[in-house]
Amino acid sequence: MAPETPGNEPQALSNLLHENRRFEPPVELAAAANVTEAAYTQAAADRLAFWEGAADRLTWAKRWETTLEWNAPFAKWFIGGELNVAYNCVDRHVEEGRGDKVAYYWEGEPEGDTRVLTYNDLKSEVSKAANALLELGVRKGDRVAVYMPMIPELPIAMLACARIGAIHSVVFGGFSATALKSRIDDADAKLVITADGGYRRGNPSALKPTVDEAVAQCPQVEHVLVVRRTGQNVAATDKDVWWHDLVERQSDQHTPEPHDAEDPLYILYTSGTTGRPKGILHTTGGYLTQTAWTHDAVFDLKPDKDIYWCTADIGWVTGHSYIVYGPLANGATSVIYEGTPDTPHRGRFWEIVQKYKVTLLYTAPTAIRTFMKWGDDIPAKYDMSSLRVIGSVGEPINPEAYVWYRENIGGSRCPVVDTWWQTETGAVMISPLPGVTSGKPGAAMRPLPGIVADVVDDQGNSVPNGGGGFLVIREPWPSMLRTIWGDDQRYIDTYWSRFEGMYFPGDGAKKDEDGDLWLLGRVDDVMLISGHNISTTEVESALVSHPKVAEAAVVGATDPVTGQAIVSFVILRGTAEESDDIAADLRNHVAKTLGPIAKPRQILVVPELPKTRSGKIMRRLLRDVAENRSVGDVTTLADSTVMDLISEKLPSAKSED
Ligand code: WT7
Repeated sequence: MAPETPGNEPQALSNLLHENRRFEPPVELAAAANVTEAAYTQAAADRLAFWEGAADRLTWAKRWETTLEWNAPFAKWFIGGELNVAYNCVDRHVEEGRGDKVAYYWEGEPEGDTRVLTYNDLKSEVSKAANALLELGVRKGDRVAVYMPMIPELPIAMLACARIGAIHSVVFGGFSATALKSRIDDADAKLVITADGGYRRGNPSALKPTVDEAVAQCPQVEHVLVVRRTGQNVAATDKDVWWHDLVERQSDQHTPEPHDAEDPLYILYTSGTTGRPKGILHTTGGYLTQTAWTHDAVFDLKPDKDIYWCTADIGWVTGHSYIVYGPLANGATSVIYEGTPDTPHRGRFWEIVQKYKVTLLYTAPTAIRTFMKWGDDIPAKYDMSSLRVIGSVGEPINPEAYVWYRENIGGSRCPVVDTWWQTETGAVMISPLPGVTSGKPGAAMRPLPGIVADVVDDQGNSVPNGGGGFLVIREPWPSMLRTIWGDDQRYIDTYWSRFEGMYFPGDGAKKDEDGDLWLLGRVDDVMLISGHNISTTEVESALVSHPKVAEAAVVGATDPVTGQAIVSFVILRGTAEESDDIAADLRNHVAKTLGPIAKPRQILVVPELPKTRSGKIMRRLLRDVAENRSVGDVTTLADSTVMDLISEKLPSAKSED
């Protein structure tokens, strides 16, 4: 999500937080690691040869002729190559004798509601679904909107589209009818795949009425294909077709045709910081190459031994790349969980880890900080000794949250991989490698082999070690977005105009003394305090490093003296009591950790923070509160009542000193 109009940006970002803890890779893991230091050397010597090697891990119907064609900022990878993504994710594992291997252990939210899909099962299901799409008149290049709960039919629908060359556009099941309609319209989808509903927090939660409302205004939609999941009543429209009627009667044989490496695979909308959603377009060969390679490298995946679980929703890019395409291309065994972490109890995640003996776990800082808030005693009740590598994605992970995750979930033995990437990048770009990197809590460390990232000042000059500024990517990468659907100019303006010849993702970052990278949050969130550009991430991390704090969000509010002043919102840990002197305590703690410049003017203890449905803190709304404005647009909030809870706290907010 890059900013639409970069503005009010820092010249350089202050580097305040110093962190000295180091965690070496476990000796046994390092000795058997899939990827070693040699990969960096090889990629640095010949980047394109490195990606060719990664592409060769896939099965191509026709090998490519040219590895990269770069008409900046438009890239084509593996030109002339042909492959079928669904064949790579499913059929080839069956053909190579792995048909009985489990692809997905699916765990529904209602306890005991489970399904197991082997690669054989997946092949039949995907083939039937592909035949069903063909019967509905869907052809190569057509767009299919997918609005579903986290049930096996979701990846099956995506793979069926990929198989026939239709372009899926998965819309997260929490979005409104208006959001769904605008996405259906933008991509001009002719089919919508949905379900009656899904389970959320212990109850069936309807999806179909939202689809009906959206589709009523979308004449281009010819059919709505509906999976029966909850059995709740659904109003029938003349476009409806039941999945169990149509798909179940199809042949389970379907021959996948090869598609061009640059044929579109999917569109995924990202809202960015303002207004109209952007349809991020990903294509076939480069995308699958980088998702598969990074999944293997970053998690050190051993497909015959590992049980992998990514807790994201498939409606986000994390789910696309690391529940569906990367893991399946690698022939992995994954867990998919339908519901929320607190249903029916706050130990549900750890119960699932214990039940399936999960070895590789991938989750988000927002979830980790919630678990911190709930208390250490909950994960302590479960046997999680199976875990071997644990990952984080979505926001900067505060050092304290990283250490909590490492100790309480990873048993102090698992490397934590903090993976930086975006919907637009398609796959992980900056991350430790678990068998190579000596981890620093809070740092995403180094660009992966084959990725050329840097931190630059506002003139686009590389900053020295110890300096902060703007993260940029200097060279094209295989899984990069190709454009914004239907809007090349917006693609150029949004990502390629801030710095000449460089991709600007919209994030601030710093290089430490060793040259390792630390992500500092969105540049639109940076605060300008007495002439210093201070990142929200560093102040939040300082707050979270106090033993009483589980989660923090800070914003800059207009201040007559300092230009902007720091206002902090904190959630206390499960065990901490709110006391009169907590605010003074925390202010002093930040001043001691980062220096007096970063001392918050105000601290508000709040029960919750405003977050998007993907778990990112919406600082824009907190700025409204901090500046006593009426709170802006809350439609993208996961829970719209949160702002009332926070505003209630405001009268008690007083500035000390
Ligand atoms: C933005 C992208 C990548 C899949 C999920 C989010 C932030 C993501 C990290 C990280 C610091 C991170 C960035 C990025 N972000 N991962 N490890 N450390 N920040 O995809 O919704 O497109 O969001 O999330 O700000 O630009 P997305």
